[in-house]
Parts: sequence; structure tokens; C-alpha cells
Amino acid sequence: MTAEEKVGQMLQLDARDDLADHVLRRQVGSILHASPERVLQAHDLTDATRLRIPLLIGEDCIHGHSFFEGATIFPTQLGMAASWDADLVERMARATAVEVSATGIHWTFSPVLCIARDLRWGRVDETFGEDPLLIGELASAAVRGYQGQGLTDPTAILATAKHFAGYSETQGGRDASEADISRRKLRSWFLPPFERVAREGCRTFMLGYQTTDGVPITVNDWLLSEVLRGEWGYTGTLVTDWDNVGRMVWEQKVQPDHAHAAAAAVKAGNDMVMTTPDFFEGALKAIDLGLMAEADLDRAVERILTLKFELGLFEDRRRPSRERIAAVVGSHQDLNLEVARRSLVLLRNEPVDGRPALPLGGDLVAGPAGRAVAADGQAVVPRRVAVVGPLADDAQTQLGDWAGNSGQAGWIPDGHPREMITTVLDGLRELVPAGWEVSHARGADILTLEPDPEGATFPDGQPRPPVVVPCPPDERLIAEAVAAAREADHVVAVVGDRIELVGEGRSTATLELMGGQVAMLEALSAACRETGTPLVVVLLASKPLVLPPAALEAAALVWAANPGMQGGRALAELLLGLVEPSGRLPISFARHVGQQPTYYNQVRGQHGSRYADLTQSPAFAFGEGLSYTTVAYSDLEVLSPVVGRDEVVRARVTVTNTGRRPARETVQLYVSDLVTSASWADKELKAFRQVDLEPGARRVVELELPVADCTIVDATGARVVEPGDFELLVGPSSRDAVLLRAGFAVR
Ligand code: IFM
Repeated sequence: MTAEEKVGQMLQLDARDDLADHVLRRQVGSILHASPERVLQAHDLTDATRLRIPLLIGEDCIHGHSFFEGATIFPTQLGMAASWDADLVERMARATAVEVSATGIHWTFSPVLCIARDLRWGRVDETFGEDPLLIGELASAAVRGYQGQGLTDPTAILATAKHFAGYSETQGGRDASEADISRRKLRSWFLPPFERVAREGCRTFMLGYQTTDGVPITVNDWLLSEVLRGEWGYTGTLVTDWDNVGRMVWEQKVQPDHAHAAAAAVKAGNDMVMTTPDFFEGALKAIDLGLMAEADLDRAVERILTLKFELGLFEDRRRPSRERIAAVVGSHQDLNLEVARRSLVLLRNEPVDGRPALPLGGDLVAGPAGRAVAADGQAVVPRRVAVVGPLADDAQTQLGDWAGNSGQAGWIPDGHPREMITTVLDGLRELVPAGWEVSHARGADILTLEPDPEGATFPDGQPRPPVVVPCPPDERLIAEAVAAAREADHVVAVVGDRIELVGEGRSTATLELMGGQVAMLEALSAACRETGTPLVVVLLASKPLVLPPAALEAAALVWAANPGMQGGRALAELLLGLVEPSGRLPISFARHVGQQPTYYNQVRGQHGSRYADLTQSPAFAFGEGLSYTTVAYSDLEVLSPVVGRDEVVRARVTVTNTGRRPARETVQLYVSDLVTSASWADKELKAFRQVDLEPGARRVVELELPVADCTIVDATGARVVEPGDFELLVGPSSRDAVLLRAGFAVR
């Protein structure tokens, strides 16, 4: 291969730009954001190149095939994480791979292994939440699902672990800001999920945008060479994020020109350079100038070609086929509904007139076509449900980011077909028992978009995105919602955030419900107090928001993240009691935006590390979530109270369904290392088990904890088990008050 051909293989460019230039002149190895037509066009162009090396085609299929109209869009990663179910996530990823591969794409930039920290960060929705163990479990499952039985399977696609590493440790939640993070902190919490998928064979890793200690991640030799390639022995492919190499020149200003930037990126071990067209000329010039040798390219090119061989692209480019697209794309709606059901978290359910606010209709079950009927076969008492709020019928926002609806993609201008999406309003209209009435009022607006007052373009000529302007409360809309509420037996208010507040470059300074939503909830709350009507708040929010008293004190509260195409149906089923709520929070909810960060496993503080005007406890804690029944924990017993470092702690706990409905309970096991040589979290999740319990059922759950998992990272950065006393904490959430405790010692 010539130097040009080698440099070209290392380039991944945007298929929406000039494809002929990409393929014929720069001889790119990969493209991203390609529609099937673009894929076919690109393959034809590659056939006109000297070596006819097939292209790798990549895409951000984060929760379904994001950029293909009519594909199955699942709940976002954060929503899926609420299921705490690795098998479900694996099935989601497999289904996604089947749809994605049908459209000619070989590589998804998923899963995200970032740890959610500051909730103002615009990409919290893309994470599996705040806990490294849960993230590792779910990410590993997603990788298995995407990569299937092996790359020769035509439905297998490459997975990407991203964004390596520490990207989410933002400044004030602002995306792509400096990650002020120590190596010890990285090793303690941020790296373990990445290490797990690296060792398990995730074929590609993507960098973030962050700079740490003055070093852009793109040239962070410690992370890329020493840790990833060295310690973990990772042999997979490393792709940069969007224009990381160019940014070192024009944005971060740590390289004088593209030749130096290209040489630095190659020497740091990057294999694929995303969307920096100038890398082509820069790398060739770097060779001319002696900044690097042509041989420096070989390792990267070898990795890329190996992937192409393993995927079988030299024999079969996996071209998109109309037949396969028609047969499989969008075909996973049953699984989608299952994932959506499991993503919902019931956070509050208080009695009104002696019975819990939810389920709405008492003892209902799913009848023909899923519509609710009375469990005892009798006629159902007619009721009126007012469905209010700006998100009750907002189909595109319900899908979340990376769903072809955020303006980032460009070729699904109207998003996915409306008829594929069931909103909460649709779901309730379809599923309420015969004879029930459903009314609707918008109640409030959230935001409008206006041109940035600082100008239409940035200094470099790039267009400035519009700015978000919150809508003021609208008395007329509120009055309509209140009137509907006064006429109803149940009020369901659907509030949250909109797609414009979510995503890359879209962090928010605030976390409160925006626009007229708080005023609407306050008016509804007052009206419902007067009439005695239960107010149920459904929070369709990409991430935990700060809720006003009118929501926190509502009769019931359900968080639904962005629940995907089937989200409205899943919510209607849950509200009507046709399915049991089983989601548990993968992330804590703050009481106030100034409380950031609120994650549960912060290192032990000192007496002064609290606010004078606010508790540091979250509004809702990691692991929390209610069922329509009650589950009691008792008799926690450690069977091996003294263990060696190579042994396993065995314990058991009894869980009893003490209510009238079935439950899927997530039994959570935390460990507290009572004295550590370096500061450490007071407790950390170490295992969890899900058990199904019929009403009245009692089960003894056996728990096993390898002592090797009871590590801390000491002051030297080494991960060690320190002998001494530990406590096992078992219960339904991370809240201290609900955890049973039992001691054990490591000798
Ligand atoms: O994969 C994404 C990444 O997560 C953020 N920047 C753009 C990439 C490609 O779209």
C-alpha cells in the first residue's frame, strides 16, 4: 500500500459530505452517517479505487437504529438501565444489530460507559447511570448482543465502548469541558467498566472530547498506551471522537498545524480518525517532515484491515438489501414494549380515599388487544381520566436523543412515522376499559428556539445553534388543564424535558421543569386537593430533573426517562395496573440543582461537607423504585463471617411479598469497607439479583460475594483488598434506612 492508501484507511468521514472526494481522493477507510443509498454509492466508488478495499460503515445506533426511518427505537440507555436486567439489554442490542446490519452498517458507536455525575450534563441520558458495577454489567451485555456469535455472522456488528475515559467528569455539567480527574479517581470508578469490556472482546473503543491535566485524550499516552493497550492488553481498534485531531489545532490549540496533530495522534495509538478531512494531508506532510515514519501507520492500518477481513467484507460487503430492510427494520416492537415496561420507575404511590393512587382502576387485567378489563370479569365502573401536560402527546421527544429527531442527523427531517409511536395519550385512549373517558389538555409550553443573540456564526464561521428560551406560564392553557382535571376522576400530568435540552453540546445550567410546567402542576395540585382527585405525575425526562413540591407531593409519581416508541403504551399499562412496576433507579435524583453531584457512592466526607441550607441526601436515591405490592427483607445472615482474600462471602436474606400483587424485586447487595487506607465510598454496589414473588411468597435469596471484589484503590493507585472488617448491606435500594447489615472480616 502507498502512504496515501494507508492514511486513507485511517480516515472516517461524514457520508453526508462529498463522497466522491472522500473515496476517490482521500481513499477513506470508513464513513459514518450513511443512508442505504449513500452506502451503495460509496461501495461503487470504492470499486473504482486501485485496491478496492471495502469501507467500514459506522453509525450511532445507541438505542435502536437511530438514523433509519421506521427502525425500532427503544428506551434510551438510561431508561434501559432502570431494568437492571443484563439479559434484556443483550436482547435489545441483538435486535438492534439485526436491524442495523440490514441497512448495510457494520459498526455501532454504542454502548456508552460514561458514569453519570453532574446531572446538568446533556448526555446523562446516554449513560447506564451512576454505578460502575451496573454500567459494567449492562455494557458487557450490550457488547455481547451487538457482536453476536462472532463477526462472520452477517447480523453481527462491531460494538464501541465510549467515551474513553473520564469524559463525564465535566466542569459544571458542560459537555466536552476539561475533565479535572486524578488517575486514582479514574482507576477507582471510571475505568473498571471499560476494563471489563476490553477484556471481554469489545472490538472498538471511542475516545471522548475531554482534556485531563492539560493533555487532550487524543494524545493521552498514559490512558491509551499504558493502561488500555499495556495493562489490559487491548488489541481492538481505537477511533477518535468527532474531529478530535483537528480540534487539537483549531480549538484546544495544543498543536501548531495538521501535520503535527496527525503525527501526535498516530503516535498516541489512534487507529481511526473521525471526521478530520485534513488528517489526510496532515499525515502525509508529517511523513515528509520526518515527524513520523510511514511505518508508524502500519499498526493502525493492520487493525482496520483485520476488522474488515473478520467481518468478511472482502467477500461480501453486506450491502443493504430492500428485502431484508422490509423484513426486519422496525420489527422488534414486542421486545421494545418489554424494554419500555421494564424501564419505568414508580417513585411514589400514596393512598387517596383509602386506596393507592395507582393503579388507576383497581383490579384490571389486559383483555383482547391489551385493553383493560375487570379481573373478575364484571363490568368496570366508568371513570374519567384527564391526561394533561405538554408531553402527554409529544411523540418525537418521547424517543429521546439519537433517534433521528434531534436535528443532528439531517435525513429524517420529520423523525419516525407518527403511527409507529404510542404517546401516553394514545396509550391510555387505546387501553382504558370500555366506557371510560379520556380528555386531554396541553396545560403548558416548555420552550421556544431563538437565534443566538451573540451572532449567527462562531468566529470560525460555523453556524451557532439557536438558544433555548423558556416559555412563560400561559394562563389560558393552565385554565384548560384545570378545567379538565376538575371534570375527572383521575388526573395524569405528563411533564419533563424536551429533546432540545438533551444531547451533545446541550447541557443545561438548570434542572428544574422548564417553561409553564411548574405553574401548571401547582394549579392542578390545588384543584385536585379541592376535589379530592388523585394527581399522578408522569415524568418523561431524559435524566433526573429537580422536581417542585407539586410533583414530589403528588399522589403518585412515575419516571419514564425517554421510553421509546412503545413508551406511551407501557406507561398506560402501568398506570392501569396491567403490568407491575419493577424499574429501579440507576441514578439519583437531586433536590436542588446546586446539590450536584448527588451520586450515592461519594467518598466519605468530613463533618463540614454538608450544605447549611439543604441536606445532601437525594430526593430519590440510587436503587429506589416501588412496586404495587410491598416486599419485606429479613434474616440477613452471613454464612462465612471470616474469610481469606481468595474466598467467597456467602450470605442469605429472606424476601417476602407482603402485599396483594406480584413483584419483581431487585435485591441489592452493597459492601462497606469499614476502615480503608485511602478515602473511599461508604458503600458500593457489589451484586444484585432479581426475584419474582407472587403475593404472599417468601424466598430465601442466596448471595455470593468474591472477596476479590471487595477492593479499594489505594494511595499508590493499586487496586487491593485490605484485610479488616467489612459490612454487607442488603435491601431494596442504596438508602441506609432500608438496608439490613451484617459484618464479616477478611483475614
Ligand atoms: O459517536 C458520536 C459520539 O458519541 C459523539 N460525537 C459524535 C460521534 C459520531 O456521531
